[in-house]
Parts: sequence; C-alpha cells; structure tokens
Amino acid sequence: MAEAAAKNTPTVQLSEIRAEVDRVQQEVGFDTQKVQISFERSDFNLRAELPEVTDALLIDAMAIAKRHLENWRLHTFEKSFLSLQALNENLFSSEGLLDKIKIRISGLYGEKTLEITKKGALVPAELSLVASLLKRALGKLRAADALAELAEMGCHIYRPTDAIAGIAIFARLREKLRETLVLPLKNPEVYDRIARETRSEFAVNRPRAVLFTGPPGTGKTTMARHVGKEAGLVVVHVPLENILSAYYGESTKRLGAIFDIAMAYREPLVLFLDEIDALAPSRNEKLFEASRRLLSVLLRKIDGIEAQANIITVGATNRLQDLDSALVSRFDSILEFSEPAAEDIRELLAFYAKHLPIDKSAQLAQEMAGLSVRAIRDVCLKAERQLAREKIDQGTAATTPSAPTAAYYQRTLAEYRMSRAI
Ligand SMILES: Nc1ncnc2c1ncn2[C@@H]1O[C@H](COP(=O)(O)OP(=O)(O)OP(=O)(O)O)[C@@H](O)[C@H]1O
Ligand SMILES: [Mg+2]
Repeated sequence: MAEAAAKNTPTVQLSEIRAEVDRVQQEVGFDTQKVQISFERSDFNLRAELPEVTDALLIDAMAIAKRHLENWRLHTFEKSFLSLQALNENLFSSEGLLDKIKIRISGLYGEKTLEITKKGALVPAELSLVASLLKRALGKLRAADALAELAEMGCHIYRPTDAIAGIAIFARLREKLRETLVLPLKNPEVYDRIARETRSEFAVNRPRAVLFTGPPGTGKTTMARHVGKEAGLVVVHVPLENILSAYYGESTKRLGAIFDIAMAYREPLVLFLDEIDALAPSRNEKLFEASRRLLSVLLRKIDGIEAQANIITVGATNRLQDLDSALVSRFDSILEFSEPAAEDIRELLAFYAKHLPIDKSAQLAQEMAGLSVRAIRDVCLKAERQLAREKIDQGTAATTPSAPTAAYYQRTLAEYRMSRAI
C-alpha cells in the first residue's frame, strides 16, 4: 500500500532540478561550479562546496528542514557538522527508511560541503527544500537587500551616485586620501598581483582599516563620504554613538549584525565608523560596561574582515588619545586632519565666497588662520544670513548688491571669534 502511494506522488525531473538551482543562483548569486547534481541509477545526489559552515547555518538548516519535512531525525548535530534524515509519516514504520532524503552539512577537516542524497527521485516538496537550503548555504544577500537592511539598522547609506553637497578639495589632503584609500579601492587587482609575486602564501596587502583623526570640524566625516564618491563605492555610515545610546543593551548584537550584513554585501564598500570614540572608556559606570562590550565586538569584527576583500573600514575620531590601544592598533594607517592651512582656506573661500576679489579673499584667509573648516563655513553662512536679515529690515533687498563684502565677512569673523573666544 505504502509503495503504491509513493508511486503516485509526482516526482521531478533532473532538468527541473537544474532549472530550480539556476533560479536560486540568479536570485542570490553563487558560483554554479560549486554545485554538482547527479541522478545516477535514479539516485539523487547534490554536492555543494560552501564558503563557510557556521553554527547559525546548521541551525537555520534544521529550521528549513522542519518547514519542508513532516518528520526527520537528527543523526548528528555538533559543531560544524549536521546530518539529518527524513522519516516516514508513520514514525514507527521503518519501511524504506534508508531511501528517504538525507541532508549532511560538514565543516570538518577543511571540507565545507552540503550534501543532499536520496535513493530515488525527488518529490516537489523535497525540491523546494533543496532550493531553500542552497539559498541559505550559498547565497549572499542581494546587494539592494543588504543595503536596505543596513539602513534599517540605523546606518546611513551613501551611494556614489547620490548627490552630495559640493566641497572644496584641499590638494594635499586629497593626495593623501588618494594614496591611502582611493587607489587601493579602485585598483585592488594591482595590489593583489604584487602580493602574489612577493608572498610565499598569498595575503591581502591593501589597507583594511584607516583611521581619520583630528580636531572637531576639520572635515573627517565629510571626507569619508567623499572618498566613496571618488572611488565609486557605497559608504555605509555607522553612527556608533547612536547605536550605543539608542540600543542600550542591544547594541553589541546590532553592531555585530551590521558587520555581518556588510560582509554579505556582494560589492566592495566602505564601512565608516564615525565617532569611534563613543567606544572610549566612559566614566559613567553603566555606559562603561556597555562600551567595553561593544569595543570587544568591534575588535573581533575588524579582525574578521581582515581576510574579506570587499570591505574597507574607515574610523573617525577627534579623541585619539582616549581610544583603546588595541583598537588603534587595528588600523593600518592614521590620517591626521588639522585646521586648514592658508592655501586651504583660500580654496575654501573660493568655494564659500566665490565673489570676493582674489586679494580680498587672500587677506580674509589670513585672518581666518587657526579656524576649523566648520568654523570658516559657519562664518560665511552667518555673514550671508545677517546680510539677508538687514536687507529685509531695511526694505533694500531688491535694490543693493546682494553678496557680503570682504569687510562684512571680517566683521562677522570678529564677532564669531568674540562669541567663541577663539
Ligand atoms: N572640504 C570641504 N569643503 C567645504 N566644506 C567642508 C569641507 N570639509 C568640511 N566642510 C564643512 O565643514 C563642516 C564640518 O566638517 P565635518 O563634519 O566633516 O568635520 P569632522 O572632522 O567630522 O568634525 P567632528 O570631529 O566634530 O565630527 C561640514 O559640515 C562641512 O559643511
Ligand atoms: Mg565628524
């Protein structure tokens, strides 16, 4: 009887299985070479090489099996190894038991594989199980999904195609950024080729993590976003400060998940950890514990991406001296930002006050020495707003020239210095 019932269940052809695997491949993207399917003497056999075998994968595989199979038995479940087999509908019947579908995930002895075998053809429910397992075991997140998830976790995503506010490009800083970040990001293959020739064992020689330091308002955040634009890469801005305060207690999990999703993203990206000093030891006892835990997660995650080719981490801080030395040591290079030099200020004024004649602008630049980029921008904005107010009050908005004069900026600058005592 049982045999007759089994015979009536429709089975799937090998071509259908291949089409389904192709569909999954299209959806999540993996190297098709890594999946072999055979149907010898009507026995089904699938073998896939996996990128990694984690505990999470084993647990997810069990959950997937549970969704597709009524009953199954665990043969083995231990670290890096899972073997399970479907059972008969009647749990106590052992008829044809060894012919049921079998799933084996192994991460032992350097081998990382998923094997699915069955004596006989698959039924549709089993094909859908195979597809789900492949998707979970081999799939990287689709690019768009990964970015959407990161955004959901509180990160800001800057795509190279997004319009970002224009900036003045300081020549020296730009050269440094090009050397340390933009070149390796744009030409990874050149670096890899050199490493292949020099190393007895290949290792990535590109910088994996770069730290921006310098006083407040010197352009660290702005430049990190700009680097993405120059290199044509997505920048994922991880606001650590927010994560630490808003998800208090949950923050370690959240930070870990952010790294995991970024690693699953298929394209290269810049992971920007702004205000990384949020992890500096705090005097507040409760926060101290939380930031300690977050720091240790961060250290582990940064180590984890060392081998990963697609991520470069950029950290930024204005309190380098307060940072944990273990954290600082993770960065390949430290880029120092400082208050802009005279020539940089002139560039900045050409950006924020383009109407000023060169000599006046140079004079004003000299007077602005010592101010941060942010302060200079603030002075320029203040002058514009104040002028607008005056004109409106005087009713002269339509009749007099509309841009502030150099003298007007100088006055605003003097007020600014007075109010900030700088
Ligand atoms: N190259 C630039 N050209 C024009 N404006 C700039 C430039 N760099 C920075 N700014 C302006 O200065 C402001 C401050 O810069 P930014 O926020 O990047 O500084 P920061 O170093 O990250 O400061 P903090 O340490 O306080 O976070 C920005 O909002 C931006 O408007
Ligand atoms: Mg900043």
